[in-house]
Amino acid sequence: MPPRTAVVTGASSGIGAATARHLADAGFDVVLGARRVDRLTEVARAIGGSARAIELDATDDASVARFCAEVPTCSVLVNNAGGALGLETVEHADLDQWQAMYDTNVLGTVRLTRALLPRLIESGDGHVIVIGSIAAYEPYSGGGGYNAAKFAERAVASVLRQELLGRPIRVTEVDPGMVETEFSLVRFDGDAERAAQVYAGVTPLTADDVAACITFAATRPSHVNIDTLVVLARDQAGARQVHRRPTDE
Ligand SMILES: NC(=O)c1ccc[n+]([C@@H]2O[C@H](COP(=O)([O-])OP(=O)(O)OC[C@H]3O[C@@H](n4cnc5c(N)ncnc54)[C@H](OP(=O)(O)O)[C@@H]3O)[C@@H](O)[C@H]2O)c1
Repeated sequence: MPPRTAVVTGASSGIGAATARHLADAGFDVVLGARRVDRLTEVARAIGGSARAIELDATDDASVARFCAEVPTCSVLVNNAGGALGLETVEHADLDQWQAMYDTNVLGTVRLTRALLPRLIESGDGHVIVIGSIAAYEPYSGGGGYNAAKFAERAVASVLRQELLGRPIRVTEVDPGMVETEFSLVRFDGDAERAAQVYAGVTPLTADDVAACITFAATRPSHVNIDTLVVLARDQAGARQVHRRPTDE
C-alpha cells in the first residue's frame, strides 16, 4: 500500500512540528504548513524522506488555496495552527486580538477542512484531527478570547463529526493542558520571562507527549474513532488548578 499523506498545520514549532515528526515515523508522507517558512523548512529537512514544507497562513483564503493546490492526496489533516494572544480581562479586551484568535483557531480549521474534505473523502479513509485545549472546557479569568475561540473550535469538531456520519472519515479532537512550547511566548508577545512563569515549578507536557497522542489516534484501525482525548500534565487538574513546587526565585 502506498504511504498515506498527513497534512499538519502550524508545523513550524511546538506540537505541530512534533506531530509531523511522529506521523512521519509512523509511515505517513507529511506536508507541513505554517507562515515561518525558514523554520518550517528546517523541521521538514530534519524529518527527511518525502516531508514537504509549504507556506501557509491559515487566516488567508488565498494562502489556504495555494497550499491545498500542492496537496493532491490527503488522508489525515491535523488542524493545529493556533494559539492565544494576551491575558486581558473582558473589561480590557483587545478586540483585534480576539478577532485574530477566532480567525486562526476557528476559521483556520474551517478553511483547511473545507478545502481538503474532498480529498480526505476520496482517500476512502480520511481523518480530521482538531487540536483544541482544556480552555475549550473550562473558562478562566483573562482567558475570554482564547476560551471563546477554543469553545467554538470544539463545537466545529462536534458538528463536523455529525455531518460526516456515514462517510469514510473520522473526526478526533485532542485537547491538551499546559504544554511547554512557544505558546506562552506568543501569548505574551515575546516576553520570555513572563512566558517562563507559566511553567515555573511545574512539569508540563512536552510537544512530543501530545504528538504521541495525536499519532495514536491517527493509527487506530479505520473503524475506530478516538472521539476526544483530553491530555493534561499530572501537575494540572483542569485549566485553573496547577500544582507548583517551590522554585528558587
Ligand atoms: N502549549 C499549550 O499549552 C497548548 C495547550 C492547549 C492547546 N494548545 C494548542 O496547540 C496548538 C499548537 O500550539 P503550540 O503549543 O504548539 O504553540 P506554538 O509553538 O506557538 O505553535 C503554534 C503554531 O501555529 C502556527 N500558526 C500560528 N498562526 C498561524 C497562521 N495564521 N497560519 C498558519 N500557522 C499558524 C505557528 O507557526 P507560524 O508562526 O510559523 O505561522 C506555529 O507553528 C494551538 O492550536 C494551541 O492553541 C496549546
